[in-house]
Amino acid sequence: MKISTPLTAMLGIDLPIIGAPMFLVSYEELTIAVSEAGGLGMFALPNYRTVPDLEAALEHIRRRTDRPIGVNIHLSGRFEWQAQLEVCLDYGVTFFISSLGDPRHILEPVHARGGFVFADVISRRHALSAKEKGVDGLVAVAAGAGGHAGQTPTMVLVPYLKALTGLPVLAAGGVSTGQQLAAALTLGACGAVVGTRLVASREAGASEAYKQAVVDADPDDIVYTDQITGNPANWLAQSIDRFDGQPDLSSKKWLDLWSAGRSVAQADAILPAGRIVSEMAEECAATLLQMPKLIEP
Ligand SMILES: Cc1cc2nc3c(=O)[nH]c(=O)nc-3n(C[C@H](O)[C@H](O)[C@H](O)COP(=O)(O)O)c2cc1C
Repeated sequence: MKISTPLTAMLGIDLPIIGAPMFLVSYEELTIAVSEAGGLGMFALPNYRTVPDLEAALEHIRRRTDRPIGVNIHLSGRFEWQAQLEVCLDYGVTFFISSLGDPRHILEPVHARGGFVFADVISRRHALSAKEKGVDGLVAVAAGAGGHAGQTPTMVLVPYLKALTGLPVLAAGGVSTGQQLAAALTLGACGAVVGTRLVASREAGASEAYKQAVVDADPDDIVYTDQITGNPANWLAQSIDRFDGQPDLSSKKWLDLWSAGRSVAQADAILPAGRIVSEMAEECAATLLQMPKLIEP
């Protein structure tokens, strides 16, 4: 099955479902599974410490799938992003989400290879600045999203940023089911970035205890705080209760800090990621097909 949007046309994928790049969760297996299911698999570049590690990961992915994949790139001085970018482009990565730093650094080389750059944004100011810099689209990181998140609900942020900028907008935050994906498309999103639901997938790099905690959690078990990284993010309360202080990027303590969004509400079993993506697509299509029946002319 295909669900066609401007995003699927842009990237040459079947479904407007992006497997979120997630620190310490999205590695090769999850990327492969999401892309093979027709979505776009992504990983976060900080998951690979060195450029040779990154090269080995991309080599592995390319042995298993030739479908489009994406990465989240942190364009700050703390990362070897120039070398990472070159390797990604050599392995045919076509989609980049920039979260830190200035996306203008990568637009030209990415566009030269036929790829696209979207920017993570949480507000009007971020969105206008990203548009001015020339990005191809925005990731609307809404309230309740796993990882760093804004405070405006998906329902408001997606149509707001679309009207404000006219750029393609991806919904990030609260999409764990096909009904929620249908809602995001109805709001005008060109697709959704799915994080929390995929933490509880077989291929995620999270520990079994973390996956199970996502399945077991209620939305009220999620805490929004800037105490862990310095920027506001959503966390499973049980994991931050046993922790104090801010670890540096290489600390093993990160493995015990479990980020998740409020869509834990709909994550009810640890399943293969490909099945999560396919079921989401089927439920989305069934939901959209039901909608016209609500109308009495
Ligand atoms: C455990 C975890 C780690 C994340 N790490 C990153 C990251 O490294 N880079 C990034 O751009 N987004 C990161 N995110 C955010 C996701 O890319 C995505 O925007 C978000 O998960 C979507 O909302 P949802 O969790 O409600 O599906 C992370 C999310 C989670 C749950």
